[in-house]
Amino acid sequence: MSKKLDPVTQAIRIQTPQSSQHEHSTPLYITSSFTFDEAEEMRAAFADENQANIYSRFSNPNVDEFVAKMCVLEGAEAGFATSTGMSAIFGSMFALLKQGDHLICCSSVFGSTFTMVTKYLVRYGITSTLVPAGDHAAWEGAVQPNTKMVYLETPTNPQLEVIDLEWAGKFSKKYNLILNVDNCFATPLLQRPIDFGADLVVHSATKWIDGQGRVLGGVIVGRADLIKDIYLFCRNTGPSMSPFNAWILSKSLETLDVRMQRHCENALRLCETLQGNPHLAWVKYPLLPDHPQYDIAKKQMKLGGGVFCMELKGGVEAGRKFLDALEMLSVTANLGDTRSIASHPASTTHSKLTEAERLSVGITPGLIRISAGLEKFDDILADIEHALVKSAI
Ligand SMILES: Cc1ncc(COP(=O)(O)O)c(C=O)c1O
Repeated sequence: MSKKLDPVTQAIRIQTPQSSQHEHSTPLYITSSFTFDEAEEMRAAFADENQANIYSRFSNPNVDEFVAKMCVLEGAEAGFATSTGMSAIFGSMFALLKQGDHLICCSSVFGSTFTMVTKYLVRYGITSTLVPAGDHAAWEGAVQPNTKMVYLETPTNPQLEVIDLEWAGKFSKKYNLILNVDNCFATPLLQRPIDFGADLVVHSATKWIDGQGRVLGGVIVGRADLIKDIYLFCRNTGPSMSPFNAWILSKSLETLDVRMQRHCENALRLCETLQGNPHLAWVKYPLLPDHPQYDIAKKQMKLGGGVFCMELKGGVEAGRKFLDALEMLSVTANLGDTRSIASHPASTTHSKLTEAERLSVGITPGLIRISAGLEKFDDILADIEHALVKSAI
């Protein structure tokens, strides 16, 4: 067959070479290290003269299979898999930035990323400027002679702001900066940042990639020269992915395309139906025409993603009542699961902030984040509508 396989097909068919058992599904390589027949072979492996596996902190067949699939899906030259999404973000920054460097970071990034940038990077002499997602002048104004990297997330969690990747790609090229994009919410099935000029793409594989709320994982893919530095940093500092998690996540990639289509279909239909609900002030989703960055979302995303937000008219109290009134949706901190999930940031993840602080990061009192699962649309809708009635104030 001469036709080059589509990345979706490759994510199904890429496989670790068959063992002597002729298995159809990749076996688990639960091993800490790998053996060598001869001293010379081992010397050559340590000298990077061959591709042999040495130790599972460095590489492992299950992990390599997962990374190979992610590279194909994202259109990347190389990659490295990590134990969590946060260790992927950590590795991508700490491997490439050094004392005296400066980072431009979108202000509405995931909470732990925000903490890492503002609390920890600075301890190592790496400064940062936080810029509002859509304020291009602020991004331009933040560039300093020592700026090395631009970091952003789109759509953002949980505000669902959409950042123009084409613009970000041109901006980072203009100033010769490394563009590092968290593509967790969209997945490569909906958006490929590298096609717009990103140098690195990071993921929390814990979300849509696993898709069933089982394991933690992360991955960094992108330019081979940058990944080489990241690999050496991670190989020596140790945030590697376990073979078991890689086996789970590699299998999950085989169904990511069909799962994302159904997640996105459910999310969009829920938004369209809930838009007229009398208990809601607004509903926000990248592919609703009243989303502030609808045109950008349409340009760079194939579908709108599995997460949407809605604002309860009754504020914080209604938010708490809404969670209690749900009968089917799960109340949990994760997202990107087969099971629909609801969360209320103002009374949970962001409850320690003042209301003014919450508002400054887009967390309004009645904001509910829904991760649309794969259940039948009518069942998800019925539970949300029922909880809206019971939580009305
Ligand atoms: C956008 C985004 N990036 C990164 C992370 C961190 O991923 P993990 O929990 O796998 O460390 C999360 C987790 O919710 C996230 O939503």
